[in-house]
Amino acid sequence: MFRSLVTRTVLPLLLAAGVVAYFGLPYIDRLLTEWFRSDVQLRARLLMSSMDESLPTLIAKGDQQGLRRYTAKIIADQRVLGILICLPHGGTVFKTELVPTAVSCESTADLTDGESVARRAPMGSVLVSVFDQKPSDQPPYRVAILYDLSFVDSRQSTARDYMLAFGGISLVILALFLVLAAWLVVRRWAKILIGDIRGRRFFDNAESGPLSLPILRQVRKVLSEMEETQRLEIDYRENWTPQALQLVVRDQLHSPQMIVVSNREPYAHEFDDHGAIEVRVPASGMVTALEPVMRACSGTWVAHGSGTADRETVDRSDHVRVPPDDPSYTLRRVWLSESEEQGFYYGLSNEGLWPLCHLAYVRPTFRAEDWVVYQSVNRKFADIVAQEAQSDNPVILIQDFHFAMLPGYLRARRPKATIMLFWHIPWPNAETFGVCPWKREMLSHLLMADILGFHTLYHCQNFLAALDRFIECQVDHERMTVALQGHICHVAAYPISIEWPPRWLKALPDIQQSRRAVRERFGIAEHVTLGLGVERWDFTKGVIERCLALELLLEQNPRLRGQVTLLQIAAPSRSKLPAYQALQRATLAEVERINARFATAEWKPIVLIGKHQPPEQVFELYRAADFCIVNSLHDGMNLVAKEFVAARDDEDGVLILSTFAGAARELVEALLVNPFDVAETAAAIRRALEMPREQRLLRMQLMRRTIKENNVYRWAGRMLTDAGRIRQRQALSMGQDVLSLT
Ligand code: G6P
Repeated sequence: MFRSLVTRTVLPLLLAAGVVAYFGLPYIDRLLTEWFRSDVQLRARLLMSSMDESLPTLIAKGDQQGLRRYTAKIIADQRVLGILICLPHGGTVFKTELVPTAVSCESTADLTDGESVARRAPMGSVLVSVFDQKPSDQPPYRVAILYDLSFVDSRQSTARDYMLAFGGISLVILALFLVLAAWLVVRRWAKILIGDIRGRRFFDNAESGPLSLPILRQVRKVLSEMEETQRLEIDYRENWTPQALQLVVRDQLHSPQMIVVSNREPYAHEFDDHGAIEVRVPASGMVTALEPVMRACSGTWVAHGSGTADRETVDRSDHVRVPPDDPSYTLRRVWLSESEEQGFYYGLSNEGLWPLCHLAYVRPTFRAEDWVVYQSVNRKFADIVAQEAQSDNPVILIQDFHFAMLPGYLRARRPKATIMLFWHIPWPNAETFGVCPWKREMLSHLLMADILGFHTLYHCQNFLAALDRFIECQVDHERMTVALQGHICHVAAYPISIEWPPRWLKALPDIQQSRRAVRERFGIAEHVTLGLGVERWDFTKGVIERCLALELLLEQNPRLRGQVTLLQIAAPSRSKLPAYQALQRATLAEVERINARFATAEWKPIVLIGKHQPPEQVFELYRAADFCIVNSLHDGMNLVAKEFVAARDDEDGVLILSTFAGAARELVEALLVNPFDVAETAAAIRRALEMPREQRLLRMQLMRRTIKENNVYRWAGRMLTDAGRIRQRQALSMGQDVLSLT
């Protein structure tokens, strides 16, 4: 900044001064010479007039002795170099000793009376002034008075030196003043602009007030236009692809190192029953969403290595390249001891925060010892992420409720990193969240992220309300920003999604073949309408409520018995925990009871598969089903609903969706149900069975368009674009910090 001010202000000024000096100094020299000469001429004239009448007599007598004495008095004046007395036409009558040979009566004969001329002599310049005298009673004669002009030269050079010094000093002062003034003005403008940028005030009325300088108005306008264009591009780009996301990373973030952090890893290596190693893609909405993003962006994914063969497949730095069939990013596995897994994962994360955030009426359990482990595992991840960071400002994307403390720990280790945390589950209202004993610690550490993302605006508002209630910070509800200890955190809704088109579809046969294969595999007759439920075996998913709804339907509509089957895939999850074990027992008991009530030799109302299914098989199920039921009691987004729609390239199939799943806000053409209302859910199943094909197609077409346009690349693109903007603003304000330090 300072250097550019010097080069742009001071150097041109010095150049201009040089030009002025170059052309101006000779002129000043000439002027000074003229002044000194006319001064000396005047003195010569005065000296001449002061000579008394005795001189003509001495000349007429040719009294050399007398003339020497007479002139000796006159040349006592130190500037008078000598006197020459000549005859009118050139003969020398007398000359004093120091008259140089270059000056003689002959050489000055052509001068007129009173005229002066400068001559060069060995001792320097000499001014010769001639005066013709015509005394009445004596013969005429001419007196040439020679003045030493060497003092003029030395005065001239002294005057030049003074002038140069004065001019130079004035210039330096002027330059310093200019630089200071420019620096103050630029600093002020920068401050105003940074205020604008930080506060996103571009769209406000910036015309009024003392700071509405034209240049600031122009910059504001350009910035606001740029921001608007970016926003429009993001909002209206229909075709979000991995390539579009890569462009965002390149153009808006300048290709930083991307680090994703999550508890669940995208690929787990497991030993099978024969001791061979197989790769497993875990059942996790978070993995479903993030994996395609990482494939597009590359970078490092740091996650807990939970597979039985995970240690066997990493290198010495605990790295493994994934996806196994076409590696495009690095998975860094973190090892957790059994007690760490117990306190961090099972304890605080899944017995504390999971039930706290989901309104499924399972009581959260908070144990102080789990909290200690939760923090220490968050610190462990912070150390590993810091170790993986190849620069001081990577983009770090943290996933979920397992890492509420991580933004704070990472900020301490990598202050310049761009940290984003996406909360994949709902954020409850302030009263509910208030029961968490460590709410303040969690909130203040979360706020050290640059961006905190939630699925819906409602979750964002709940989060801001919790801040208002529990910690000291400045919440700007309009701009959804929070300031804490000088750090600004942006809170925003980014509805998560899935890749489009899903990669698992590529390997699958057409719909008819999928239908046949699935029915054969699960023993479901051709004429039976197939309803599908696919999820982790979790108390938030409403699995039992769904079975009860089917039971009610069959009870109220005997003609539907033998006509509809619910194929329920329940991937065992967190099975060590009592709540999950109880759920599994209760589900099995309910299914058994309902099946016992209605089943025939050829038909079962519910086929329950309590096993994890690989994604390609899940997609085959989606294609085989007539309807899919997602009646979560509470769900952040629920990507099963979106996957079902994405799998149906035949545009058929009905989606029954809980209003308490985030997906219900986008997939409004689904049959929306309150999962707690068993009768309403039963009615929705009936509607699905009876819905005419044209209506099914129309609904599915609309939902497919929604997901295609709002796929996971758009989700990541929006978040990363916001991160890019924040990075630009931070770069600007760092410039300002430097400015205030200089
Ligand atoms: C939810 C969470 C994810 C989690 C997934 C599976 O979708 O938001 O973070 O990975 O459940 O749970 P698990 O405990 O098996 O990782």
